[in-house]
Amino acid sequence: MSKDLSEIVKQIDSDIHSLSSVEIKQKYLSKNGIVTTLFKGIKDISQEEIGEYGKKLNDIKNLLEENIKRRKEEDISEGTQYSIDPTAPFDINSKLTRRPKILDLKGSKHPLMQELENILDIFQRMGFDVMESKQLDDDFHMFESLNFPKGHPARDMYDTFWTQDGFVLPAHTSTMQNRALRKLGPPPIRVVLPGRCFRNEATDASHEHTFYQIEGIYVDKGISFANMLAVIKEYLEKYLETDLDIKVQPSYFPFTEPDTEFVISCPFCSKKGCSTCGYTGWIELMGCGMIHPNVLKAGGIDPLQYSGFAWGVGLDRLTLIKKGIGDIRKLRDGDINFLKQF
Ligand code: DAH
Repeated sequence: MSKDLSEIVKQIDSDIHSLSSVEIKQKYLSKNGIVTTLFKGIKDISQEEIGEYGKKLNDIKNLLEENIKRRKEEDISEGTQYSIDPTAPFDINSKLTRRPKILDLKGSKHPLMQELENILDIFQRMGFDVMESKQLDDDFHMFESLNFPKGHPARDMYDTFWTQDGFVLPAHTSTMQNRALRKLGPPPIRVVLPGRCFRNEATDASHEHTFYQIEGIYVDKGISFANMLAVIKEYLEKYLETDLDIKVQPSYFPFTEPDTEFVISCPFCSKKGCSTCGYTGWIELMGCGMIHPNVLKAGGIDPLQYSGFAWGVGLDRLTLIKKGIGDIRKLRDGDINFLKQF
């Protein structure tokens, strides 16, 4: 018989983290358990070694018994001694020694919410208020107040879901512009409006039916296009933690004039071209523009006195870029192994 007990000690060390106290008792101390069998074989040990060997074996037995006793007491005090959780999503009932209920497992913030907090933090430091957008809205806020009168062809750019009572699941956070102008006016108004949006999309690696946007509005006397470029650039450089080159491209939104697409140099390859920027060196990040006078008027602000800019950026898109995630659907499919990485 081997006198080296170190292998068994190692085995016990790993088992007490993965087996229940009942399983430990069964494996080591039952009638045919490993330690019991070793005790039975003690008669074959030589006279010189028997003292030390027997003492070691006794120590192991005592440690096992203490461990079993302590864990039983803990189980009883937590009322979980023989309970299992049949709703647990994986095999935690047999694998974990303390048999935690699912609620005992530590959760973490979803990567989208982590990024949202970082972004709001930057804007709050830049002097912006925060107002959350609504998840159920109406035609006035989705279209009318944003200079899309009934029958305007650009309404088709925002194909989303409607309830039978005529409410809309907003396709963008611009639905909040009118509310923000009314609530926070008269200017100066500086506010960011994060919220959940919906679109009738065929989903793929970069399109989802449900996603988040962060709208931003800045209105005051004498606000110019240059102010818009400076504020958005400043925020993105803080968020992406790097210097950026920027450019704007023409676009179209009924609620801005002029309407632009804000484009940044790829923060990963410095315009050399990589998979994140589709080998173009540039990333088209968000729509923005000077707020249309009709939108200011609808919000109770005199466009002859005040001007302002607005933008709407996709939080999911920013999160993919910041965390190097390749598929937008990962952010919503609840895969615990994916979420555990954050
Ligand atoms: N709401 C637009 C969209 O989702 C994005 C946008 C463009 C927001 C221009 C703005 C803006 O505030 O000024 O397509």
